Amino acid sequence: MHHAFLTPIDAAWLRRFRRNLLKWYASNARDLPWRSTREPYHVWISEIMLQQTTVAAVVPYYQRFLDRFPSVRELAAAEESEVLRFWEGLGYYSRARNIHRAARHLVDKHDGRFPTDVETLQTLPGIGRYTAGAVASFAFDRPAPIVEANTLRLYSRLLGFDGDPRSSAGQRLLWSFAQQILPQSSPGRLNQALIELGATLCTPADPACSVCPVRTLCRACAEGRQTQIPVPAKRPEITEVIEASLAVQKNGRYLLRQRGEQERWAGLWDFPRFEIDGAINGAPTAKQRRDLAQQLAQCTGIEAELGDVLTEIRHGVTRYRIRLLCLKAVHRGGRLHRRNGPQQWVRPGDFADFPLSVTGRKLAQILADAL
Ligand code: ADE
Repeated sequence: MHHAFLTPIDAAWLRRFRRNLLKWYASNARDLPWRSTREPYHVWISEIMLQQTTVAAVVPYYQRFLDRFPSVRELAAAEESEVLRFWEGLGYYSRARNIHRAARHLVDKHDGRFPTDVETLQTLPGIGRYTAGAVASFAFDRPAPIVEANTLRLYSRLLGFDGDPRSSAGQRLLWSFAQQILPQSSPGRLNQALIELGATLCTPADPACSVCPVRTLCRACAEGRQTQIPVPAKRPEITEVIEASLAVQKNGRYLLRQRGEQERWAGLWDFPRFEIDGAINGAPTAKQRRDLAQQLAQCTGIEAELGDVLTEIRHGVTRYRIRLLCLKAVHRGGRLHRRNGPQQWVRPGDFADFPLSVTGRKLAQILADAL
């Protein structure tokens, strides 16, 4: 049974909430690089990077990205592969492709300037309700609500909402709450403070209620239920896969291919990579090797003799747990047909020019070090 969580937000509650939160924020906010700017381009890049990624991981990428692409126009003028190169390692690469498409759209349709309203912002690739609200409020100080991971948790606790915050009813409730708590003056600052409280005190596992500036206004805290709220998201089922990456060598160069639109890591370059059927005990069986060689020939036109396992890499991507065997291989015949997108023979010294998947980069490093 759900509680009657919808305590009406009255004027006194709101006043105290905003006052306590802003006072706390003024002396406790972390000095993050995107907080010293109201440039919409900077706000946008930081918010896209911060999706599914921690602040600590984002900071160096943010600086490097803006150094290389200082404005929407420079980003729009760049090649997609260079944008991906600057995104390499951050993951969720559709974010980078969407940023690039959105930059071109802004230049073509909006004279390189950002729209200031949430509706128009949401017509841009990769900009959903949250990012639109973040740009509108942080850059233009519009009273646009935000709900992302930190604020979802914070609002759910403030309201004592023990339903599913990701359901459509939960989303309606939280977005409505997010709208109601915004003041007319400096709504952007309040939004930033809400994120900060969620990120630093109102944390998932062990919230610091004893030092929270709004603890007396929090229903979950009053009921001692802060660790039960919000209810956790359902864990996706994990799928195990075994794959092989082939380091096919020809005259000191290695075969790289660009991953296609329909593949994982679309747009990134990689060594030819295929799934292995069945179990692996140390090294692929003769049959598994034949299968791999056949897939290589089909995908690239190249015939190769497969050699030793160079290394095995384990990594997780969304709901996959991947075991990746990296195999040596030597070109024995055939020419690149390029039917499945761009393919190239590349010297190890030139690997740095290509945006690679994280595992591709590891293998590239091993090959370069072996020289
Ligand atoms: N996560 C998402 N947006 C953020 C921001 N502006 N500051 C810190 N963490 C965030």
